[in-house]
Amino acid sequence: MIYTTTKLLKFLALVNGIHLITATCKNSKIESTPTSLYEDLRCLPKYEDGCIKEYDCSHIYNRPKGTCHFKGKNLKIGEEIDNGELGGVWDRDCACTESLEFECPELSDGCAEDWVDGYPDPVCYLRYELDSYCAAGQICPPFDNTRKCEVEGTVYKEGDMFGHPHKKCTKCVCDKHFDGKLEPPFCQPVNCTVELKSSKSIDNYCAPFYENYPGECCPDRWIC
Ligand SMILES: *[C@@H]1O[C@H](CO)[C@@H](O)[C@H](O)[C@H]1NC(C)=O
Repeated sequence: MIYTTTKLLKFLALVNGIHLITATCKNSKIESTPTSLYEDLRCLPKYEDGCIKEYDCSHIYNRPKGTCHFKGKNLKIGEEIDNGELGGVWDRDCACTESLEFECPELSDGCAEDWVDGYPDPVCYLRYELDSYCAAGQICPPFDNTRKCEVEGTVYKEGDMFGHPHKKCTKCVCDKHFDGKLEPPFCQPVNCTVELKSSKSIDNYCAPFYENYPGECCPDRWIC
């Protein structure tokens, strides 16, 4: 199956009643359309005049029967997603089930910063890393030898997470080793990780729906 630009845009236009845009890529409308989802699914972009015209997601629909799909990989029933691929999400140890959906064990505690008394310490602040869903730790005084990252006039503290100033749907972190380059590993595209919860919707050719289009990177729900 191919998700064509026109199909997606028609759909979005229909639902949100918005005027669809032009953008950086003059001949294409997809540049202004969120594409994180397709990158997440490892669909292949098809170019026309240097612009992405559509994404070919047929590998998902042509995969061997009785397998789950996650970010370009086919998993057998019972097989778990490598936790390293769950960058930025809370769930862990998620496995492909008989119904070809993913199931993750219920994790009860949540992020420490949400429930541990006195964390972070009132004089400290939370430090974030790109891959982690919860804060990765706290940074406490003295702050003299912590990193400051200046990005186009804004100064971020070490451990701050911020949106890439030019690339949509890309997050950056002010890392200890930040060298001023807004590139990996300091900046990474956001992960929608839609297949964790919505593999059925994808298998059923449902259309992604973005509540606050444009400006949103990942779909909020699916229209089937
Ligand atoms: C997305 O996931 C990858 C690992 O699969 C990770 O390296 C990357 O940092 C994540 N992106 C964000 C913005 O967290």
